[in-house]
Amino acid sequence: MNDLAEPTDFGTRPFPAALVNVTNRCNLECEHCFVFREGNPNAFMDRMDDATMLHQLEVLRDRHGIKSMLFMGGEPMVRRKLVLAGMDLFEHASMVTNGTFGIPCAPGHLVTVSLDGPPEENDAIRGAGVFDRVERSIHERHLDDGTIVMLQMTITKANAASIERFVDAVADWPVDGVAFGFYVPRDGEHSDLAWDTNEERDEVIDRVVALKKRFPDLLKVSLDTLALMRADRCLDYVGDHCALKSMLPLYVGDGGMFERTFCCYGNDVDCDRCGAYAVFNAARHRSQASTPGPKRPEA
Ligand SMILES: C[S@@+](CC[C@H](N)C(=O)[O-])C[C@H]1O[C@@H](n2cnc3c(N)ncnc32)[C@H](O)[C@@H]1O
Ligand code: SF4
Ligand code: SF4
Repeated sequence: MNDLAEPTDFGTRPFPAALVNVTNRCNLECEHCFVFREGNPNAFMDRMDDATMLHQLEVLRDRHGIKSMLFMGGEPMVRRKLVLAGMDLFEHASMVTNGTFGIPCAPGHLVTVSLDGPPEENDAIRGAGVFDRVERSIHERHLDDGTIVMLQMTITKANAASIERFVDAVADWPVDGVAFGFYVPRDGEHSDLAWDTNEERDEVIDRVVALKKRFPDLLKVSLDTLALMRADRCLDYVGDHCALKSMLPLYVGDGGMFERTFCCYGNDVDCDRCGAYAVFNAARHRSQASTPGPKRPEA
């Protein structure tokens, strides 16, 4: 018996995957960031100490059968020790980081580093000098330490014009791949970041498809998944059909205890314009698993 607080009761439903927002602190202020939206649990910083969070993650792992945990923030590297210890609790663990505190050594785990375009476009979103800092971090890491490192660009209407120049800029970096996600807007949002209709987004999906053909090994996107993201199909996989509903999103709420948000992207989201690649990729896996015949290689 110890005196660490026990986690919130989320029932006993199995969740094969979960996400934990370990901190709301962040050194950057990206305009598109869902974490700091009104209505999300983001007012209180680090209300759960390391020992309590590790204990609660372990209890929730066993209670819900969590096999895969994604560590994020805020910037998870501001609680680096906690995250690295937490990653070892799970069969599969990953972290998504802004890369400005260096790339951690996490053998066997996935570290995804966010960049939102080539230098000029990225720095307009993530701050002056951030692209160069991340590039340095990527080149300074120990290449043979067993950490899987990916870059990830979140495509919005505002930075979409730069996707080709982004891939050209990072094509020879020592990483295991480059991923793309599309913006997840607020419910009813009309801004310079969000496409008003999914039809408008299709043109960008076409360009990601063309990039995949140019960089088949580097780009970790699947043409089949991209096809599901197109306007004529995407609504079949979002909202009540969202495959990420099987993921438990853990945020630390006002009382310093875990609470779950509506989805990984918080409480205020427009499912009908969801651009989360993982939603459609999971849908593709589901449909391929239920279709007889040989499995396709992973994207
Ligand atoms: C919220 S951040 C937290 C981790 C870290 N600070 C970082 O920037 O990678 C995780 C990822 O979500 C992406 N993201 C933020 N807001 C988003 C939104 N509204 N729609 C889609 N992706 C978003 C970020 O670009 C980043 O790749
Ligand atoms: S670095 Fe990550 S958490 Fe921080 S503001 Fe940007 S997207 Fe949000
Ligand atoms: S916004 Fe996207 S990830 Fe969130 S519930 Fe809706 S479809 Fe799923």
